[in-house]
Amino acid sequence: MYIKDKSQIRFPPSRNIDMKVTVVGAGAVGASCAEYIAIKNFASEVVLLDIKEGFAEGKAMDLMQTASLNGFDTRIVGTTNDYSKTANSDICVITSGIPRKPGMTREELIGINAGIVKMVATSLVAHSPDTILIVVSNPMDTMTYLAHKVTGLPKNRIIGMGGALDSARFKYRLAEALDAPISDVDAMVIGGHSDKGMVPLTRLATRNSVPVTQFISQERLDAVREATKVGGATLTGLLGTSAWYAPGAAVSGLVQAIACDQKKIFPCSVLLEGEYGLTDLCIGVPVVLGRTGIEKIVNIDLSDAEKQHMQQSAAGVTKTNGLLSF
Ligand code: 2OP
Repeated sequence: MYIKDKSQIRFPPSRNIDMKVTVVGAGAVGASCAEYIAIKNFASEVVLLDIKEGFAEGKAMDLMQTASLNGFDTRIVGTTNDYSKTANSDICVITSGIPRKPGMTREELIGINAGIVKMVATSLVAHSPDTILIVVSNPMDTMTYLAHKVTGLPKNRIIGMGGALDSARFKYRLAEALDAPISDVDAMVIGGHSDKGMVPLTRLATRNSVPVTQFISQERLDAVREATKVGGATLTGLLGTSAWYAPGAAVSGLVQAIACDQKKIFPCSVLLEGEYGLTDLCIGVPVVLGRTGIEKIVNIDLSDAEKQHMQQSAAGVTKTNGLLSF
């Protein structure tokens, strides 16, 4: 938002946008997210919070020492578990919780991460009642649903990040199969952010507006779809832990779309109340993101097969939601 009274401007003084973003969890995903937000230079301040003594302060200081090298004015501040430092954040990102290990599903993290996300979400909203929450912690769709239950924020101000990441992985795999530049590829993944629940929309994928089915066989496209669905697990197998660069970049894109009122469409996990024939769960569907958060849920005319995949995906998310205790 643009402010008229210049005396109200927080850092950096050279910019007339007063935009404060908090990232909870200074681990690999959270720190990557903070770094990408800073480099994009649209925020006045990023607060990085972690429970580990000095960890967020160290990451923030290290990142600030890249400011002159990477050319950003955003001020990054670290704090050890002091939520007063997050007060009046326009946008809050929750990355805290444990990542999965090789062979684990995201759903297996619920036992530990649910308690963490509940505490973090309520602490953030207590200090920033007008904030927009973006949930990254896994199992993400269920953690997003939990955030609704424990904060009571309106549905347009709670967003789960999964589809933006899965769509980036989908585009990567498609470009590989097409032997095309990724900038020529457009594609979207909807549904649950889970190895079995994702719904890559192969039917709608294009290479510069040309359906990809004109370039590759259905068999190759099916292989791309399956590789996309296990994109996270593939990296966890290689890295020994969850990925962080692409998750951090994906959530920074959502933050920028909100902060800069971009009206861009992203697949995000949002609370459905009849849209896509689904109710009382958070799951990935295309939405328009702007300064108020979710500005519109976009309905796509799905094929019968896609509708069936969404129903199956929703059943899996609802089953995981059933493990929550409020
Ligand atoms: C991923 O798919 C962490 O869920 C995230 O990499």
